[in-house]
Amino acid sequence: MQDVQKEIADLSEKLRELNHQYYVLNQSNVSDYEFDMLLKKLQDLEEKYPQFIQENSPTKRVGGDITKKFPTVIHKYPMLSLGNSYSKEEIIDFETRIQKLTTDQIKYVCELKYDGVAIGIQYINGEFYRAVTRGDGTKGEDITANVKTIRTIPLKLKGDYPSDFEIRGEIFFPLENFKRLNQEREKEGLPLFANPRNTASGTLKMQDSSVVASRGLDCFLYGVYGDDIVIDNHYDLVNKAAEWGFKTPPVKERYIELVASIDGILDYINHWDTKRKELPFEIDGVVIKVNNYDQQNQLGFTSKSPRWAIAYKFKAERVSTVLNEVTYQVGRTGSITPVANLEPVLLGGTTVKRASLHNADIIEELDVRIGDTVFVEKGGEIIPKIVGVDESKRTNPNQLNFIENCPDCGSVLVRKEGEANHYCPNENGCPTQIKGKIQHFISRNAMNIDGLGDETIELLYNEGLIRNIADLYDLKKDQVLPLERMAEKSADNLINGIEASKEIPFEKVLFALGIRFVGNTVAKKLAKAFKSIEALSSATLEELVEVDEIGDKIAESVIDYFSVESNLEIINRLKEAGVQLEIQEQEGASDLLAGSVFVVSGVFQQFSREEIKKSVELHGGKISSSISSKTTYVLAGDKMGPAKLQKAEKLGVKIISETDYLEMIN
Ligand code: IVH
Repeated sequence: MQDVQKEIADLSEKLRELNHQYYVLNQSNVSDYEFDMLLKKLQDLEEKYPQFIQENSPTKRVGGDITKKFPTVIHKYPMLSLGNSYSKEEIIDFETRIQKLTTDQIKYVCELKYDGVAIGIQYINGEFYRAVTRGDGTKGEDITANVKTIRTIPLKLKGDYPSDFEIRGEIFFPLENFKRLNQEREKEGLPLFANPRNTASGTLKMQDSSVVASRGLDCFLYGVYGDDIVIDNHYDLVNKAAEWGFKTPPVKERYIELVASIDGILDYINHWDTKRKELPFEIDGVVIKVNNYDQQNQLGFTSKSPRWAIAYKFKAERVSTVLNEVTYQVGRTGSITPVANLEPVLLGGTTVKRASLHNADIIEELDVRIGDTVFVEKGGEIIPKIVGVDESKRTNPNQLNFIENCPDCGSVLVRKEGEANHYCPNENGCPTQIKGKIQHFISRNAMNIDGLGDETIELLYNEGLIRNIADLYDLKKDQVLPLERMAEKSADNLINGIEASKEIPFEKVLFALGIRFVGNTVAKKLAKAFKSIEALSSATLEELVEVDEIGDKIAESVIDYFSVESNLEIINRLKEAGVQLEIQEQEGASDLLAGSVFVVSGVFQQFSREEIKKSVELHGGKISSSISSKTTYVLAGDKMGPAKLQKAEKLGVKIISETDYLEMIN
């Protein structure tokens, strides 16, 4: 038993170290696979011997803890905000004020003002104890489980840290991860998130920490608070925190800088005013702090903010231009988005011709009219935004009325109570919706039907061959062959692709149906809970919201979907065609090999080649027929050809034996 406890402790230590090297120091010393296998081993041991689980085990990074309600915690040190300034004059005044108060030489620390969510994390005896949001500054919410999934935040410290202290910083959404999240949402037909900051904030309040883990938030630290801190200045203390394992702002890149004069401060501001566009995350200004703690204490606080610090906020870039026209886009789920067509104007280095007006409420709030001169900003938002109207230049007396009919099929639009968007209700009759639904149905994460691109869908639609997803399964080769640019081979591919999609598991089919708000994750949860389309279609609102993460909005959308007669007809036809509409529980299935691509070659002892391929798929791995840079493993049996071996070696693809494989899946 002691051996097991030691093994858990050693594994945890090793994983912690590898995590720090990878996420904080950007060094990769083992392969992802090796890391995952170590983590998996720890997870297995923890499952078997829960009595030895460490409070701050590296397995917490994966998330999975569900928090129903975030308890309120009173801050030991209030979380104050900073005084803001928008002009260099105010910064000069700030510096002069401080100089007057003392004859000592004053040094300042200049830092980035990260545009995210403030967090205070308490560590006791080097262990992550609790993470609390800013809240109203006096008390915040305990979001520990979610913050523990952020890999750059250490769960256990190294070196000579204080025994009990709080570290504060800003959790933010790196732009690349934010973009990726929105790309995924776009594919799933979900509304896009408008800006990284609000999304970071929303993510941190989610109940399922594994979703938080998957989003890739990050954190920079800017303050340490405690009773037994020996270092006497901010700059050294922040740098010291790096030795304890924290990700602190790099000095080399000027994320943090120690300066001795107003010139140094202004130089820092000017540098970041232009360079901020190149950062992989958003900042909304810079922060200037007096470095020495004694001097900070001398200066003290006003009721709201410290006198020893100030924020300089960058102005969001804003230009004015004319609104020529508002057009309306129909999404595949029927949602209508008004788009402002603008007189082209240069903003932040790109020409802006369009801006989203989001919905009818926004239009009403802005009271924007055709021909108006409008102000456009590209501040925190990724998509340019109309922020106001220059009413002095207005000539048009007519308010802008939101359209009442679908621009595509003419149906009268509907707007549900409490929802901001208008919808076209003609789900299975509106051409844009039909084509959009088919595009979604065949996409890679859904039915993954090869040989059917957007153009072919357009052609098939125009020829009257498809009017819904079920029609795909009635297509015959001799119907598609006459289509423009369709050759014998591509027609075969298309028909084979459709045939192969009958093997796609139920959860993906459910996602492919394109029910509003039912993305990948929701589809998985619903499939697991109800097991068949039959059961799902007769579920009540109460039964639906019982499922973890399913709220009223999703539940209502599911009920709406199954209340439409034409949807039920489509489902019946899919069933007749042989599409999977219930879960196929496979014995021995797992996701041990999820994300790995295998090329199988040669002769094996315990399996036939087909059996070993099936086994890979049973454990969530993918099979590919040729070796490429995308291959994770070449599973080599006896008599594998030398050319294949050479290719694998050249590309650096790992070659494993049948015995290695058996170890991986057992
Ligand atoms: S110092 C007592 N430093 O800005 C002052 N704050 O309005 C403590 N922020 O709530 C804050 N980057 O969320 C500080 N380098 C930085 C910062 C920073 C972003 C945020 C923080 C705070 C708000 C202050």
